[in-house]
Amino acid sequence: MAAAGEPEVIRDKAAMRAWSRRRRAEGKTVVLVPTMGFLHEGHLSLVSTAANASAGAPVAVVVSIYVNPSQFAPTEDLATYPSDLAGDLRKLASTGAVHAVFNPPDLYVRGTDGSGGAAVSGSCLQEAAGGHETWIRVERLEVGLCGSSRPVFFRGVATVVSKLFNVVEPDVAVFGKKDYQQWRLICRMVRDLDFAIEIIGSEIVREADGLAMSSRNVHLSREEREKALSISKSLVNARTSALKNSNSASQHMKNQIAQTLSEAGGRVDYVEIVEQESLVPVDTIDRPVVICVAAWFGKVRLIDNIEIHPGS
Ligand code: PAF
Repeated sequence: MAAAGEPEVIRDKAAMRAWSRRRRAEGKTVVLVPTMGFLHEGHLSLVSTAANASAGAPVAVVVSIYVNPSQFAPTEDLATYPSDLAGDLRKLASTGAVHAVFNPPDLYVRGTDGSGGAAVSGSCLQEAAGGHETWIRVERLEVGLCGSSRPVFFRGVATVVSKLFNVVEPDVAVFGKKDYQQWRLICRMVRDLDFAIEIIGSEIVREADGLAMSSRNVHLSREEREKALSISKSLVNARTSALKNSNSASQHMKNQIAQTLSEAGGRVDYVEIVEQESLVPVDTIDRPVVICVAAWFGKVRLIDNIEIHPGS
């Protein structure tokens, strides 16, 4: 096995599966960190969570880098999604904690009927007859929050993550809690479909000024970035207020956050206060909840969230 300082790059599915099986035969816990690349400190913190995922036992950490076309709608930013494989490999090597990078050229079976293909069911997966047509849907959790404005997103995520699980065969997988709905949906999928994989939710990593790290932040102008700080500020203020005043009305809090974001120049997609596991909206903050926000600053759609445990 390559030293952890220099991850082995694997592009082939069968080679990836064989690599994982060898690591497990050596007594290692295989830990997967799925990403779409263009890595930042937030991803590196997932790697650090992965490196410490198995108390005492040796781990073999795999980072997948794959921009999944099926989770983008044709109107979304697949074509401009940033990528920098060489930079990603350097960053991963610098952690000294990554043993393999899985970077497949394509994870989908493509059709061969020569028809040229059309976007299947509204996603960017251009497919002809004979190609991919199986989808995983987590029916309740994919609805609402990001699912309202991104109708194909979670189906694409659940499907590609299942494919990654089947190829990499990890014992553990790490997801960032910034994508809160995604993390909860993957936990539910693993439970419902009996994947023998432990899912770890890793805490949000923020810039010094509070902006949640995201690959999309590079597209913000300086001015937009400054305005976007209103997201984390309004979330922290809301949590402080909810902890001070028991049983706060969630509608009032949502209105306040939305108003702050609009006044800062953002275009609000949603502000919701939901139960942490079911993601069902609450009227009153009287149990563990999470406030989830999505807003546009310029052409960039940002998401963020904050958990609240009343009484803590
Ligand atoms: O969070 C992401 O980067 C993606 O949605 C994931 C989980 C890698 C699936 O493509």
